[in-house]
Amino acid sequence: MQPAESDALVFFGATGDLAYQQVFPALLSLIARGQFNHPIVGVAKSGWGLEQLIARAHESVTQHGPVDEAAFARLAGLLRYVDGDYADANTFAQLRQALGPAQHPLHYLAIPPSLFAVVAQGLAQSGCADKARIVVEKPFGRDLASARALNETLHQFFPEAAIYRIDHYLGKEPVQNLLYFRFANTFLEPIWNRQYVSNVQITMAESFDVRGRGKFYDEVGALRDVVQNHLLQVIALLAMEAPTRRDVDSTRDQRAMVFKSMRPLDPHTVVRGQYRGYQAEAGVAPGSTVETFVAVRLFIDNWRWADVPFYVRAGKCLPVTTTEVLVELKRPPRTVFGSGGPEHQPNHLRFRLSPEVIIALGARAKTPGEALVGEQLELMVRHQPAEEMPPYERLLADALSGDPLLFTRQDAVEAAWQVVEPVLSSREPPHSYEPGTWGPAEADDIIAKSGGWDNPVA
Ligand code: BG6
Repeated sequence: MQPAESDALVFFGATGDLAYQQVFPALLSLIARGQFNHPIVGVAKSGWGLEQLIARAHESVTQHGPVDEAAFARLAGLLRYVDGDYADANTFAQLRQALGPAQHPLHYLAIPPSLFAVVAQGLAQSGCADKARIVVEKPFGRDLASARALNETLHQFFPEAAIYRIDHYLGKEPVQNLLYFRFANTFLEPIWNRQYVSNVQITMAESFDVRGRGKFYDEVGALRDVVQNHLLQVIALLAMEAPTRRDVDSTRDQRAMVFKSMRPLDPHTVVRGQYRGYQAEAGVAPGSTVETFVAVRLFIDNWRWADVPFYVRAGKCLPVTTTEVLVELKRPPRTVFGSGGPEHQPNHLRFRLSPEVIIALGARAKTPGEALVGEQLELMVRHQPAEEMPPYERLLADALSGDPLLFTRQDAVEAAWQVVEPVLSSREPPHSYEPGTWGPAEADDIIAKSGGWDNPVA
């Protein structure tokens, strides 16, 4: 049984980028809302002191908008800092001291996975792992074998119930809405299957390049960076069966079942691309064959989805920055009104996951006038601006309160790796594409049977 509420937060990698980009702003919001009022211990090996960490935290939150200075003062008052090597037992002895009377700390590992083992061990040996939870960031492994090894390492020190694996897509408001919309409405269920859905497309387009993350990106590539995790999670919510109970594992079981039913990717229906200029990015190896674009066709071999193609593509340097899901329904059995052209456009459901939130139903209606011709319209179910609550804020709050619903479980992570495993080791050079285009033309081939990609507009 996990404790209800963490009574301290420890974050490793306190002087790093993730802490700067995500953790400090999320913490400030939680504190401003009165949701957290316990010691926050930053750990890193930077030769810093507490003053420097507070200054860094202030710089971080300033970057993210107007600062609630009263809340920041409370954050600064809760902050502690431990400087030391993760391999040194003394670092953890200092940490135990900084934790004071805390009994149920949450340890957030905002550090490279290669350091997880040594930190987990240090926590266990110093008594900091008892009754604690641990949050680990992606990438969770780089293939099935490494994910398994990582799980085994963590399990030596923490039970599965205490491990919170972050996939920030699960913390996004519009992604949550996919689940809600599906199971809070009855009209969807009769058509949400292979009888009515002809295909599903998911596009995660980013108009920017690797943004200075060349070194990281070149070890990962688009498939590992966003498909194996974020986009497969989106498919899980689109395709899963309704949870039978309200407990956390009922939902997590159904998400995991989708991955377990997915057919491992066929290398013939995977297209990898690389934008022209990628190899000149700092940190990228000369002659790199890492993909900055990937398009895949996958299938879920279960009763509901058999033979329905799910097309997924993701890439950097594409024309827009938008993530969208299009669920296309089958056409009417006969063309009653005229023939050819747009009359044939099928109905669809469109979920825009970013930058703004859209849920829309594409339907046809008669164009006003004498002729019996129609036009394609969209009924807007929901259209709201970008997220109100950033995913890290939601996920951090959930981890602190011991709610694992939006975190990934070991079996799901491993099943997702199993899906992409056949194409991970591809040595084929990727197809080159011009920045600002929709990736290599070869990506069109895998979706030709379903009428081509639907390119989201900005
Ligand atoms: C991260 C990837 O996990 O997700 C990035 O490493 C990507 O490459 C980012 O840009 C996208 O997340 P979001 O929330 O901006 O859609």
